[in-house]
Amino acid sequence: MSALFQPYTLKDVTLRNRIAVPPMCQYTAVDGLINEWHQVHLAAIARGGAGLVIVEATAVAPEGRITPGCTGIWNDELAQAFVPVVQAIKAAGSVPGIQIAHAGRKASANRPWEGDDHIAADDARGWDTIAPSSIAFGANLPKQPKAMTLDDIARVRDDFVAAARRARDAGFEWLELHFAHGYLAQTFFSEHSNHREDAYGGSFENRSRFLLETLAAVRDVWPENLPLTARFGVLEFDGRDEQTLVESIELTRQFKAAGLDMLSVSIGFTIPETNIPWAPAFMGPIAERVRREAGIPVSSAWGFGTPAIAEQVVKDGQLDLVMVGRAHLANPHWAYFAAKELGVERASWTLPAPYAHWLERY
Ligand SMILES: Cc1cc2nc3c(=O)[nH]c(=O)nc-3n(C[C@H](O)[C@H](O)[C@H](O)COP(=O)(O)O)c2cc1C
Repeated sequence: MSALFQPYTLKDVTLRNRIAVPPMCQYTAVDGLINEWHQVHLAAIARGGAGLVIVEATAVAPEGRITPGCTGIWNDELAQAFVPVVQAIKAAGSVPGIQIAHAGRKASANRPWEGDDHIAADDARGWDTIAPSSIAFGANLPKQPKAMTLDDIARVRDDFVAAARRARDAGFEWLELHFAHGYLAQTFFSEHSNHREDAYGGSFENRSRFLLETLAAVRDVWPENLPLTARFGVLEFDGRDEQTLVESIELTRQFKAAGLDMLSVSIGFTIPETNIPWAPAFMGPIAERVRREAGIPVSSAWGFGTPAIAEQVVKDGQLDLVMVGRAHLANPHWAYFAAKELGVERASWTLPAPYAHWLERY
């Protein structure tokens, strides 16, 4: 019996299996607005059999987009455009989720295939960026952000709350806060990027404050019966990983006390110079430690997109949900092929009947 294809229930939401599609930016929105590309991309992947499909990092404010092509949810028009996407994902038997995000100092960048660097200062497509401290990321992202005032901090927290409310009203059933990957929230937590001397910087408690306040405020508007999750970089692979991990696990315990239902365990990406031990499933043991020590369900990504590996990490109790990203870009029906490879009975029934019927038959 496959562990990967067992249903999974969190709060009132039941996923048909343990396969989740992580947020993946498409960089093809205009002024934050999604279009036919997002519709086709997300509907196709949902149709392929995954239990959960999470819409890409969607900005809570215009300046929080990574690139000019990133999706947004800072007004009702942008939010309502997601309704057909939500319906398509549900019609395919999957659960619709969305990641809400603010890119902080990594915002105002060119699309990955157009340079992946900051938009030049004299280019009208760019905009001013904000961060806890006026410290640039460096490397390909050299732009100096403005250090946020207390009013800026309160405003972005409120932007997350408004975005969560709009996501709820658009019909999403799973919310992920983007607290990872060197974007705004992660830069509050990291000592590399946060040199503030007020209540939002310095001690562990102060560096955690923006994340915890945002989470608690979002929990107040996000329905109690629906999962609220966060993606968080629990370490940087910068040589001080045990210390960071211990702090991250303590923060995860506090997230849980504030109402978080699951942590998507990821990498900090706060500095350009790191030593990440890329290998299939390398985040599995780290996620398992967070799961055990913080006592919270976890998911993770990075190299789990081989059926046998995905099956094993669920069986071993490393992950509750397996995020399979790029493998779904290569093959939107990844879940179906995984089911076949793992010998799941009547694997074709991971697909909707108009496809499944014929695949079962011949
Ligand atoms: C095209 C693309 C866009 C991505 N966009 C996001 C994003 O919006 N939010 C996020 O947290 N991670 C993003 N990621 C990271 C993925 O969610 C995932 O962690 C990564 O692809 C590793 O998983 P994989 O090995 O299964 O592909 C992106 C990755 C890709 C390939």
